[in-house]
Amino acid sequence: MLRNFKLYTEDDYTAMSQKAAEIFASAVAANPTGAFGFATGSTPEGMYKALIQMQKSGKADFTHITAFNLDEYYPIKPDDPQSYKYFMRLHLFDGINLPANRTFIPNGQANDPAVECIAFEEKIAATGGIDTQILGIGTNGHIGFNEPAQELSATTSYVKLADATIESNARFFATPENVPRHALSMGLHTILMAKRILLLASGKGKAEIMHQALFGPITTQVPASLLQLHRDVTIVVDQEAAKLLQ
Ligand code: GLP
Repeated sequence: MLRNFKLYTEDDYTAMSQKAAEIFASAVAANPTGAFGFATGSTPEGMYKALIQMQKSGKADFTHITAFNLDEYYPIKPDDPQSYKYFMRLHLFDGINLPANRTFIPNGQANDPAVECIAFEEKIAATGGIDTQILGIGTNGHIGFNEPAQELSATTSYVKLADATIESNARFFATPENVPRHALSMGLHTILMAKRILLLASGKGKAEIMHQALFGPITTQVPASLLQLHRDVTIVVDQEAAKLLQ
């Protein structure tokens, strides 16, 4: 069971997004030039919207951080609307005026994915490491694109997407065949090295996996369960996702 965690249960998606944005903004206020880790998916969209509002109203300043994203499809073009690079610009980076030279997302067009993964890890190390890493969770327990398996990657790696993930992410693509079959993703060690984890989950579809991740056995079959080994995890959920956590 996860012990070193703080759990915030908010009424709904909007309240969850606002709470998570406040927690993240105070982490940035304490380390305004630090490196921070970002996630994609529909879960953090509301939080990113709230962060843009905070920046615009002068309540927070995110313009001096360095951003690292968890993952990217492979192969994918950076200007493909389904790429995570495009997602981050659209939902956050452009709205907070974060210069492109301080936003790092694994390159979905790299000639050699293995070389790209090593370079990505080196960039994180050069900043001194990630302060707060934002995470969502897949319905199968994946974090980043670390899928349930016998073994998990420690560092940023070229990974194969699980059928369940292809199926669930197909909603963003014209057809399921258009979903890339691979991705580049931070590994479990990369994620667990962050000083603090900020995990978000929303909706009844995440209730069961959140329970498994936080209270079930630590297993590579539920990659998020490895978060139980981290010393500082903050979880922000809405009522529906929290249903089995009491
Ligand atoms: C995606 C991403 C994850 C994300 C997860 C959940 O495939 N690679 O980083 O946390 O799936 O997505 P959503 O927030 O849309 O439920």
